Amino acid sequence: MHNNKITFFELIAQIEKKYTNKNINNSLIYFFSQKVKNLTELLVHRNEQIDFDYNELMIALDDYYNKHKPLTTITKQRHFNGINLKVFDKVHYPRNETELLAEKIEEVLAKDSTLNSLIDICAGTGNLGISIKSHFPKLRLSLLDIDTNAINNIRFNLDNNKLEARIINQDFFEFIKTNTEKYDVIVFNPPYVKKEELDLEMIKFENKISFSNSDDPLEFYKVLLSSLDKVTNSKHYLIGIEFGYGQKQDLEKILKSVNLLQFSRFYKDLNNQDRFLIIYR
Ligand SMILES: C[S@@+](CC[C@H](N)C(=O)[O-])C[C@H]1O[C@@H](n2cnc3c(N)ncnc32)[C@H](O)[C@@H]1O
Repeated sequence: MHNNKITFFELIAQIEKKYTNKNINNSLIYFFSQKVKNLTELLVHRNEQIDFDYNELMIALDDYYNKHKPLTTITKQRHFNGINLKVFDKVHYPRNETELLAEKIEEVLAKDSTLNSLIDICAGTGNLGISIKSHFPKLRLSLLDIDTNAINNIRFNLDNNKLEARIINQDFFEFIKTNTEKYDVIVFNPPYVKKEELDLEMIKFENKISFSNSDDPLEFYKVLLSSLDKVTNSKHYLIGIEFGYGQKQDLEKILKSVNLLQFSRFYKDLNNQDRFLIIYR
């Protein structure tokens, strides 16, 4: 049925019969509509005709409810740590919990004006580095990813947010061997899922290497933490890391082996699981 003449109110009444999650339905309406971007505007305009193509909304609802596409894969956009990001096809979309890592990094940056350069390694859409730079514009920002789609996505998000940075399209392991720059801050959310625990159905809209790209899920952490002298400035730096469920104890062992445990602090996510590590010295 093609029905562009119905009002917002009639539309909602109609779709709710079939699609039960009101938050998702409204989010998609806000995405397609020019004049309705939140609940208040929806109430104000409820008796006016919809200002977008009814069929496009139906396709998006079908994608979400029946084809199980994540909302971000449909809208290709995401609000993260105060900025709007585009998410390109097959690029890892920023998860809500990762905002906590950005928050922890920013808490230290707000207090320590000697931290002037930041590299976001395994940057994806650039969500961490770009959002942090938007709040600390003087930071010299670099972003690294192996995936060309991610690199194009980062370039777009920088332009869109009117920010500049150095973009490095390189394998992290190669970077560690060849890098000559020193950074004050490193943010690091690498692939950390065990190969055998990958749920290919769940991640089919993103690139698999975002989740697992080594036989050892701790490999990225081991290599970074044992090579900090190659990437950081002397003895004063800040490192923010995201890691997976159940990996805290292994990370503690790695930190101990490189004499960094005393500078380290772990943080939990909203599900009360240890997920973030801040090293500050
Ligand atoms: C878990 S995602 C994190 C994306 C983003 N930083 C975030 O917080 O949402 C991991 C990213 O690492 C990249 N990646 C995977 N293997 C890599 C490697 N060997 N070298 C550099 N980047 C890699 C993937 O392309 C992906 O963008």
